[in-house]
Amino acid sequence: MTSTPKTYHVKSFGCQMNVYDGERMAELMAAQGMTAAADADSADLIVLNTCHIREKATEKVYSDIGRVRKNARLADRAAPMIAVAGCVAQAEGEEIAHRAKVDIVVGPQAYHNLPDLVAQASAQGRATDTDMPAIAKFGALPARRKTGPTAFLTVQEGCDKFCTYCVVPYTRGAEVSRPFAAIVDEAKSLVDAGAREITLLGQNVNAWDDDAGTGLHGLIAALDKIPGLARIRYTTSHPNDMKEGLIRAHAEVEKLMPFLHLPVQAGNDRILKAMNRSHSRDSYLRILDRVRAARPDIALSGDFIVGFPGETEAEFRDTLSLVDAVGYAQCFSFKYSPRPGTPAAEMDGAVPEEVMDDRLQRLQAALNRDQAAFNAASVGKTCPVLIERKGKLPGQMLGKSPWLQSVHLTTDAAIGDLIDVEIVRADPNSLAGVAA
Ligand code: SAH
Ligand code: SF4
Ligand code: F3S
Repeated sequence: MTSTPKTYHVKSFGCQMNVYDGERMAELMAAQGMTAAADADSADLIVLNTCHIREKATEKVYSDIGRVRKNARLADRAAPMIAVAGCVAQAEGEEIAHRAKVDIVVGPQAYHNLPDLVAQASAQGRATDTDMPAIAKFGALPARRKTGPTAFLTVQEGCDKFCTYCVVPYTRGAEVSRPFAAIVDEAKSLVDAGAREITLLGQNVNAWDDDAGTGLHGLIAALDKIPGLARIRYTTSHPNDMKEGLIRAHAEVEKLMPFLHLPVQAGNDRILKAMNRSHSRDSYLRILDRVRAARPDIALSGDFIVGFPGETEAEFRDTLSLVDAVGYAQCFSFKYSPRPGTPAAEMDGAVPEEVMDDRLQRLQAALNRDQAAFNAASVGKTCPVLIERKGKLPGQMLGKSPWLQSVHLTTDAAIGDLIDVEIVRADPNSLAGVAA
């Protein structure tokens, strides 16, 4: 690739923060005068915004690079410029440039330099930037232009927790909070652009703080005052950063939605210790008691890992009994995946694949049961739904309840409207409603 690309396409694979980063990279390309391509196969520049969290996620980038090149060959067009961004770029760095012969490798803390890297790659054929200057990128990015009723806003990045299975502290760096004023400004520009709901993002979002000790609840209180903003959410939280002020905010701030994603990972204290989670089963359950006391209708969510090295059947059953004790509204659950460079990858006691499969199945059966029960309990209730997009059927619209359930209904309400909906039926993954 020698000419400068004129069209771009960004493809994000990872968590919500990766999606946010992807949006900001797209805005950055647009600010350079490039235009969005209709799809990946017609773009001059393809940004693959990757995730390193589990082995499967990492493998995706290599198969995607192959596919992009093959499609270009089949269509008889020049090979596009390929930029690998995100957490795989950070973890593997130059190695990807050599292994997969991509043009640009750019880490999650360096993507504000993408225009320079594109220029460099155009001139010299290759460019890499995996520096981690704390917070520098946010100041260097163009203003938000994303419209649409729901928006992500990164307020905190990185992780100092070092759970023994996890790559995030290595790929995203140390915990850093963005300044209060910059966040409030970005929230206002998102609302001006049409956002009615903002989800505050961080690897440990509830660790957000500033020199004044404002805390995430103080930030939420400031966003609560933005006219036009109807809903505030935040994710992902760590149990140890679940401070009293934030719990109280769930009782006091009307715009703060009754939903908490608080990963626990496992229900057995020996496993939690080996994971370096720094909370116990009991301390986690006590936090949930306090949250429920503040906001009795709160929907709880979590993440689980089955088959951590050395996990016995009895220890796994502690996870099942914790699930029974909590009654989650929805959860994510994963088989343990050893990640290079993490302490757990060196631990003995690998759990055989078929045992992991069996445990995951049993865990998911329990989680699905609880999700179905949570959804069934909504039938007959009337609640506000934020309309997010059109459904597949004519006149059908899709939106979210306060508890983050997907709701579909036939209505002439427009995208961005917040309307009262009576829930009439619960399906496994969504609710059917009628405008009240
Ligand atoms: N606090 C983070 C967590 C990111 S990882 C956040 O911002 O969401 C999301 C989930 O992936 C974790 O909660 C954990 O359940 C799972 N996970 C992390 N490392 C894993 C590994 N090595 N194998 C399997 N699952 C993993
Ligand atoms: Fe990973 Fe643990 Fe940090 Fe979450 S808290 S990002 S699981 S190290
Ligand atoms: Fe994946 Fe990085 Fe997010 S590893 S989960 S994209 S922080």
